[in-house]
Amino acid sequence: MAKIYTDDDIDLAILKGRKVGVIGYGNQGHAQAQNLRDSGADVVIGNRDDDYGQRAAADGFEVMEIAAAASAADVLLVLIPDEVQPVVYEKEIKANLKAGDALCFASGYNIYYKQIEVPEDVDVIMVAPRMIGEAVRNLYKQGLGYPCLVAAEQDSSGKAMDVALAVAKGIGATRLGAFESSFEEEATIDLFAEQMLWPAITKLCMLYFEKLVDNGCDPEIIASELYLSGEFVEIAKAMITEGFFEQLNLHSQTSQYGQLSRGERMVPAEVRAQADKAMEGIKSGAFAQEWAAEQAKGKPTLKKLWEQVRKHPMAQAEKNLESFRKIAAKAYK
Ligand code: NAI
Repeated sequence: MAKIYTDDDIDLAILKGRKVGVIGYGNQGHAQAQNLRDSGADVVIGNRDDDYGQRAAADGFEVMEIAAAASAADVLLVLIPDEVQPVVYEKEIKANLKAGDALCFASGYNIYYKQIEVPEDVDVIMVAPRMIGEAVRNLYKQGLGYPCLVAAEQDSSGKAMDVALAVAKGIGATRLGAFESSFEEEATIDLFAEQMLWPAITKLCMLYFEKLVDNGCDPEIIASELYLSGEFVEIAKAMITEGFFEQLNLHSQTSQYGQLSRGERMVPAEVRAQADKAMEGIKSGAFAQEWAAEQAKGKPTLKKLWEQVRKHPMAQAEKNLESFRKIAAKAYK
């Protein structure tokens, strides 16, 4: 079992006297920067001149150009989208790193796939919250933690993991726990969910919708039953409170029998083979190459795929239920 670090294992003193630069003030940037500041760290923001930079200034931070923040900081958190990190790193960060700095990522992708290569005298660490940014901030304010993965990929200082853990504590994650992991493991887990688990769930939901429509059921009632009712959310919550399998006890026995007796049929050998194929693409780097080529072309396939899903009859049913959805959404804000 992976080691789990909590607050008591970690000394924040390693951040004392060191400037923490947070590049980006978006989902993760705004949350991690404010949490670190509230934990006593000396934080500056590096952001281009846009709405995010203005928000950081309004929140009372010193906001610099990215290159200036990279130069001023001793510990630099890279919290801009993964897709733009390699270019921003080459143009604005790399030349401003100095020996002994720590470069901290919230995702394993760019380091694992060598889209970013860092000088040997700089620590390369990862503090990857398993939580959306808004919740990273809200949980911190409530005194609660959230899961997080930490890693030290390049340990030039001999203290790289201590710095990673201090960041994890500063952002409030280790009130719950940080798992010791690696850039490879984080990227693999993330990509496999994105390429196997979530698309399978989405496609099965679409199949459920299509088959019920074919069998004379009303599209809007199906959309409501499927997700607008919030049943999905309640099941996910019960997986935490009751346990992944034990939450089945909250359903009728008819439901329990249906789920347990039919589940295996839904994952035939072809599905298992496709899961292996997705994993191969992740491990070989073939997916990372395909995605880099797609981005270089201006993402034409991604645009086409979006057009396709927006034409699905379930999207129409959702439009017809716009006001219903807005009221339902209030329960989950
Ligand atoms: P985001 O999309 O919210 O980033 C917005 C920020 O990036 C803004 O400050 C904007 O000024 C800056 N930015 C955007 N394009 C730029 C460009 N071309 N040049 C310079 N700055 C640019 O990013 P998010 O979602 O916070 O992700 C940051 C990192 O956190 C990523 O590595 C991501 O994988 C990781 N992460 C994100 C989670 C989430 O909740 N979204 C959860 C866990 C990890």
